[in-house]
Amino acid sequence: MKILVAGGAGYIGSHTVKGLIQEGFEVTVFDNFSTGRKELLVGGELVVGDLMDKKSIKNALMSKNIKAVIHFASLIQVGESYENPKKYYTHNLISSLNLLDAMLEADIKNFIFSSSAAVYGVPQQIPIPESHPLNPFNPYGQTKYFIEKILQDYERAYGLKFISLRYFNAAGADSEGRLGELHNPETHLIPNILLFLLGKKENFDLFGTDFPTEDGTAVRDYVHVTDLAQAHVLAFKEILTSSKSEFINLGANKGYSVLEVIKKTEEITGKKVQYKEKPRREGDVPVLLASKEKAEQILGWELCFSSIETIIETAWNWHKKNLKN
Ligand SMILES: NC(=O)c1ccc[n+]([C@@H]2O[C@H](COP(=O)([O-])OP(=O)(O)OC[C@H]3O[C@@H](n4cnc5c(N)ncnc54)[C@H](O)[C@@H]3O)[C@@H](O)[C@H]2O)c1
Repeated sequence: MKILVAGGAGYIGSHTVKGLIQEGFEVTVFDNFSTGRKELLVGGELVVGDLMDKKSIKNALMSKNIKAVIHFASLIQVGESYENPKKYYTHNLISSLNLLDAMLEADIKNFIFSSSAAVYGVPQQIPIPESHPLNPFNPYGQTKYFIEKILQDYERAYGLKFISLRYFNAAGADSEGRLGELHNPETHLIPNILLFLLGKKENFDLFGTDFPTEDGTAVRDYVHVTDLAQAHVLAFKEILTSSKSEFINLGANKGYSVLEVIKKTEEITGKKVQYKEKPRREGDVPVLLASKEKAEQILGWELCFSSIETIIETAWNWHKKNLKN
């Protein structure tokens, strides 16, 4: 059974490719290596191409007997999307439309999409169910929201089936230490703490100490990247047999504050995290937590690696091994 993974050389994509290959699926990775890296490829066929070039994705999809596509390939920095919305709307929307058009031309009707908790905006309810109103407030989240709307129209008009997976905070690294998280610039909490501890960052800034939470810092739902990858494997199996499209949260429904994550990291690494307190960043909400019932019911998803200890331990192992020098 063949599947094309757009963005398979990135952080979450590479872990998913590993999971798909382990389950015996044939994988084609399509990536332009704008943020992806060759070292993160663990197998499968590689097509170097850019989704902004419709011809290259069309060629990759034609005559390969591909059953489904997973789409990880987007720009992902929330802060940058505020400063340069044009870049985000242009890239994320056009690349997704090109991919969908190429799929329809190749008569591939199964699509798994990397969406985000950013589609919800400020939560009115915690944990957040998939039925929560959608009100994204940054351009990055808007692009995910618009693509979800496009998917619904394409389903109605062209019979495209989709599973849109709304991730909360992806974190951790694979347990063998082969794959891990390294964005540039890195905006995520755990890798930023680890980069600071390895001397790769001069400062570590803690944004917001006056949130209405127990210790004043923001609470987030961290889900291990290997559990996320497994959800994609399950979504692939589901989409091949089911007749229904779905929106599904991927989170642990367990929250840790920034200070709790710092404390756990200090315990695991044996190092002190010196941080500078900074004001809240625009758009940061106090608490984000996912309801995960739908993922359990529809996909049969179980969390195996998402304790905060395993997340930090695996990330630390990978960072130490790959970024020491
Ligand atoms: N990391 C998180 O916590 C998180 C949370 C919510 C949603 N997501 C979504 O998950 C997806 C993957 O995130 P990630 O952290 O693995 O990002 P990443 O930057 O590590 O991976 C993105 C991959 O897509 C490739 N790519 C980008 N534009 C492309 C194009 N035009 N053509 C071909 N390849 C292209 C990159 O080279 C890279 O390999 C993104 O869609 C992101 O919005 C991530």
